[in-house]
Amino acid sequence: MNIADSDVIASVLTGTGYKLVKEPGEAGLILINTCSVRENAEQRVWNRLRQLRYFKKKNPDLIVGLAGCMAERLREKLFDTEDLIDIVAGPDSYRYLPSLVAEAGSGRKAINVRLSSCETYSDMLPAYPCHDGITAFISIMRGCNNMCSYCIVPYVRGAERSRNPESILKEARMHFESGSREVTLLGQNVDSYKWTSGDNTMEFHSLLAEVAAIDPRLRVRFTTSHPKDLSDELLKTMAEKNNICKHIHLPFQSGSNRILRLMNREYTRGDYMSRIESIRRIIPECSVSTDIISGFCTETDEDHKETLSLMEWAGFDFAYMFRYSERPGTLAARKLRDDVSEEIKIKRLNEIISLQNSISRKSKKNDLGKIHEVLVEGYSKRSKEDLTGRTSQNKVVVFPGENRKKGDYVNVFIEKCTSATLAGRII
Ligand code: 5AD
Ligand code: SF4
Repeated sequence: MNIADSDVIASVLTGTGYKLVKEPGEAGLILINTCSVRENAEQRVWNRLRQLRYFKKKNPDLIVGLAGCMAERLREKLFDTEDLIDIVAGPDSYRYLPSLVAEAGSGRKAINVRLSSCETYSDMLPAYPCHDGITAFISIMRGCNNMCSYCIVPYVRGAERSRNPESILKEARMHFESGSREVTLLGQNVDSYKWTSGDNTMEFHSLLAEVAAIDPRLRVRFTTSHPKDLSDELLKTMAEKNNICKHIHLPFQSGSNRILRLMNREYTRGDYMSRIESIRRIIPECSVSTDIISGFCTETDEDHKETLSLMEWAGFDFAYMFRYSERPGTLAARKLRDDVSEEIKIKRLNEIISLQNSISRKSKKNDLGKIHEVLVEGYSKRSKEDLTGRTSQNKVVVFPGENRKKGDYVNVFIEKCTSATLAGRII
């Protein structure tokens, strides 16, 4: 999401004469695009700001700005906490960056944190995409209308709004024509994408089919799906089109019905399991990844065991696992006590991680002896002889290059694996 937002920021600023540079020492303006979802994401930003002091000392005219969710959450307080900061720009204010920069350039602190009910930056095609040229990200909607009690997103990114499908298609075509071979459609809850024009309504599955129709050589991915909204129509669309990748990210957060209720997730453990069964029935080769939170308010050992048992039942191919961190202003922060100790949160998280490691290993072992089509994304980190890319199921594969290059599709026979990667050879 933040990569797509950084593209928008770059597009606004390059449109008014700025140029992207590679090193902070060369910049006259440094904007940090931030996330507030978990406390440690914010901690990383504070650390980065500390590093930037060195550049400001060397160049007192350097302008430093904070963009995105953390700007929205902390607003003017940021100027008091860190006097390095000249600009605070919330996620709906990027069109106004040139005037914010001009204001900061004249020595005043500049801020815009107004949230919008309609801003989707639909006309902002990336002038200078912040990606590797093969895989691109397209934001198809902004904000979120769900009220998961632990989550700060609705407060810092505002209400949900969908982007005009024509601008999405135009952006996807532009990426394809400039050499990208994969686009990922992004939204907090893509299943509730909806665009109405006159009597016509476009839902997510139709948008996905249209993006996939641009060219069979363009892979299409999307994230994130919500278990309460993931429809069979979407699954059928995925099954029908070869170039829609067979991977769904479907966060379950907790396996306990009591905790799911407190989280305000609007589905039960049983509902979630039936969604997984539909995926397996309609797209048998589909991989599924998830998000899990350990130690949410009042979570008991029994609740935690239900999370572990759901993980085993579902056999997720991959998971993002977090310990609960209370976010100020959320429903949970206002109404529930963060009463699970840090020690227990960490202990449960470690159990979740070690279980997932063994499940991930099993998932990779299932690929041994199979042939997967892989889109080459570049050289492997370890050796320039080897290339790396991903399968349709989003599994990373490493293999000897054999003169293939970024953007090629190759068939790879899988010979080895770890819990994180597959390895094989081109056939
Ligand atoms: N604490 C821990 N994890 C959180 N997430 C969102 N809010 C919190 C929080 N307060 C996780 C959820 C979500 C992912 C993007 O971040 O698992 O799906
Ligand atoms: Fe947050 Fe829930 Fe919206 Fe996801 S669906 S962004 S977890 S409120």
